[in-house]
Amino acid sequence: MRRIAIFDTTLRDGEQSPGASMNLEEKLEVARQLARLGVDVIEAGFPIASPGDFEAVRLIAERIEGPAIAGLCRALPADIDRAGEALRPGKRTRIHTFIATSDIHLEHKLRRTREQVLEMAVAGVQRARNFTDDIEFSAEDASRSDPDYLARVVEAVIDAGATVVNIPDTVGFAVPHEFSALIRRLREQVPNIGRAVISVHCHNDLGLAVANSMAAVLAGAGQVECTVNGLGERAGNAALEEVVMALNTRRDCFQATTGINTREIYRSSRLLTDVTGIAVQPNKAVVGSNAFAHEAGIHQHGVLQERTTYEIMNARDVGIAESRLVLGKHSGRHAFEQRLRELGYELSREDLDRAFARFKELADKKKEIFDADLESIVTDEVYSGPEEYVLDYMTVVAGLEGYPTATIKIRHGQSDLVDAGLGVGTIDAVYKTIDKIVQVPHDLVEYSVQSVTGGTDALAEVTVKIGAGSRIYTGRGASLDVVEASAKAYMQAINKLVYYQTQRT
Ligand code: KIV
Ligand code: ZN
Repeated sequence: MRRIAIFDTTLRDGEQSPGASMNLEEKLEVARQLARLGVDVIEAGFPIASPGDFEAVRLIAERIEGPAIAGLCRALPADIDRAGEALRPGKRTRIHTFIATSDIHLEHKLRRTREQVLEMAVAGVQRARNFTDDIEFSAEDASRSDPDYLARVVEAVIDAGATVVNIPDTVGFAVPHEFSALIRRLREQVPNIGRAVISVHCHNDLGLAVANSMAAVLAGAGQVECTVNGLGERAGNAALEEVVMALNTRRDCFQATTGINTREIYRSSRLLTDVTGIAVQPNKAVVGSNAFAHEAGIHQHGVLQERTTYEIMNARDVGIAESRLVLGKHSGRHAFEQRLRELGYELSREDLDRAFARFKELADKKKEIFDADLESIVTDEVYSGPEEYVLDYMTVVAGLEGYPTATIKIRHGQSDLVDAGLGVGTIDAVYKTIDKIVQVPHDLVEYSVQSVTGGTDALAEVTVKIGAGSRIYTGRGASLDVVEASAKAYMQAINKLVYYQTQRT
């Protein structure tokens, strides 16, 4: 069995999805989860792109143990030095340097000849060696490059010290038989290829990212680059959960394993949805809400007799536990902590105190508390980040006649800010009043509400996206009351915006 390395780029390519930007605390939380998941490499960001990216790479390199931490950089001296500096505190670090090799990119983007690009690639790898021995080189747009030229570049960068050579299908143009032929050709044509691992990085523009990655594995690729939930530029990258479960479920075909703890897959997916506000479609493979649901009677009957009649994977293997009745209002702190641990949450004392207080509050109002409720509480209490503005008090009046009205008090440092306002609906009234008080310019880009479990006493989970400049900030709130959940989600998004803006000044 070969061991395929899983290189996760959720924090870099994934974060390039429109609306998927994350703040520093969220990136750290995602990195911690990726380490639990057992990925081999975490690409933590593109350090020269912004001070925020630099800081994220630095902090993740400093704090996260287990996977190697990679920083992306173009094959330019300043980029490489910046990546090297960001990675300095890490124990296991990788510099990932890239330059495009297709004629389209050379002519229109780089305005360089093939010889010049080859020299830049080699110089980039040599410079990266000042910082680490683990160097990955990517030939951007490899799948649309002249294969003979690509082979020359690959050979030269391996000679210069690259330990991993990545062959990206940058624009998602490849089809599986052609992409595997390219990998095979490089293995045959590049004399020193045995000194490096071949990696692939496929985009999903034609919905073929996972199929192309799997075809490349069959052709000898030893590393797959992917993202949780398939996040990424445009139509996204190959979805980590699909690549890993394909390798696991069809071991007979791929003869390969990974170091992934598959039971952490679902939790990783949920975390990304919570942090980015980008939900996965219900019929998404492996982690969609319908992935293990059986609607047709004949299927239900079959599964009840023998699960494998219609299921090729076990939901438990990807960490989807049945949402069962777990706790009630008489449950103590110990039972609460124990159940969270079973669900994979290791909380600090302070976070646990907050989550437990919230659980007691919920248990007073809601008879039955399910795993999904606990996950929602924990995400709500623990991942919310710094709060410049705190919602202190809110009343809403609505009826069949007249205008819905909201009265709101928000704490800002030592001041209490109070105001009231009208809206066309209760949530509109709340949001307009918050806007009057906080006065931070932005646009509401998206508002959505979901119920965590069934019934009118289910927790409501609200996701809000607001835009300011070119950035989108996501807020999430959970409560038994949809208006309260909406207010919390809005406040969280505003606090993220304010935090981002203060970090930059
Ligand atoms: O899609 C791509 O080519 C990339 C490279 C930087 C690896 O993201
Ligand atoms: Zn990419």
